[in-house]
Amino acid sequence: MHLLSIKDISRDQMNEIFDIADETSLGKTTTSLREHAVLALLFEKPSTRTRVSFEVAMAKLGGKSIYVDTKTTQMSRGEPISDTARMMSLYVDFVAARMYHHEDLVEFANNSTVPVINALTDLEHPTQALADIYTMSNAKRRIRGLRIAFVGDIAQNTCNSLMLAGVKLGAEMALVGPKDYPPNPEYLTRSREYGVVDIFDTMEEGLAGADIVYTDTFVSMGNENEAEKRKKAFSKYQVNANALKYADKDALVMHPLPAFRGQEITADVLEGSRSIVWEQAKNKLLLEQAILVYLSEKSM
Ligand code: CP
Ligand code: NVA
Repeated sequence: MHLLSIKDISRDQMNEIFDIADETSLGKTTTSLREHAVLALLFEKPSTRTRVSFEVAMAKLGGKSIYVDTKTTQMSRGEPISDTARMMSLYVDFVAARMYHHEDLVEFANNSTVPVINALTDLEHPTQALADIYTMSNAKRRIRGLRIAFVGDIAQNTCNSLMLAGVKLGAEMALVGPKDYPPNPEYLTRSREYGVVDIFDTMEEGLAGADIVYTDTFVSMGNENEAEKRKKAFSKYQVNANALKYADKDALVMHPLPAFRGQEITADVLEGSRSIVWEQAKNKLLLEQAILVYLSEKSM
């Protein structure tokens, strides 16, 4: 089994992963990986949290990891993705890949005989969404019925994965961003088959009743060539103290990081009492351990 997209994973499967994370957090995990299991982290884009937490997750589970920057591989000289996947499957037990183009990840997975995990593409960031849902449901003691406002760039990977995971588990989504950057139509249609997804272009309407206010960078990796245009287009959608007045009085603030203080979020909100951003980052390690255990069990 691969984990490429929230599309591939049911509500029950997500809950199984959350149960493993709960057990792990209580020190109760009985399942481990195959002895001497190895994870390859094949990354085309930069990463701090995902790379480090996957490496630590493997160490905690008794395995090893190898970080492979694609620029240092024969992929940079044109070796096909399919050959790279076939060959890596001969050496390692899992691959977590961070690719620019989601279709390259799919091609990699189609040629891999070991589980492949999406560590972020232009289309999705599923491991982040699982850590985020776990974090918010622990903080709010429920996920069903929570209203999650995703603010800013609602046309990208983090939003696609969080929206689909959220509605599959019974949350409501409010997408708040400029009309010129609408949500991905396929993810929107699919998400609306599961639950409520409202779209707004004002903070006042979009944040009304929000239990979670979630934002992400205005300039995702791969969009640097239009950085100035994007910063201007999204500038009205900054999560700051004034914007939070529109949300529920107990609303919590989330961000996958890296944060650009003064752009999508202000420093006082990021560091303030409503922010659960650092707990969210911490939970990436827990969820990655749970995902590795889950995929290992399913692949046996
Ligand atoms: N949130 C996240 O994926 O961070 P990195 O890009 O640092 O891995
Ligand atoms: N949307 C961001 C997420 C970073 C974790 C990006 O793709 O750069």
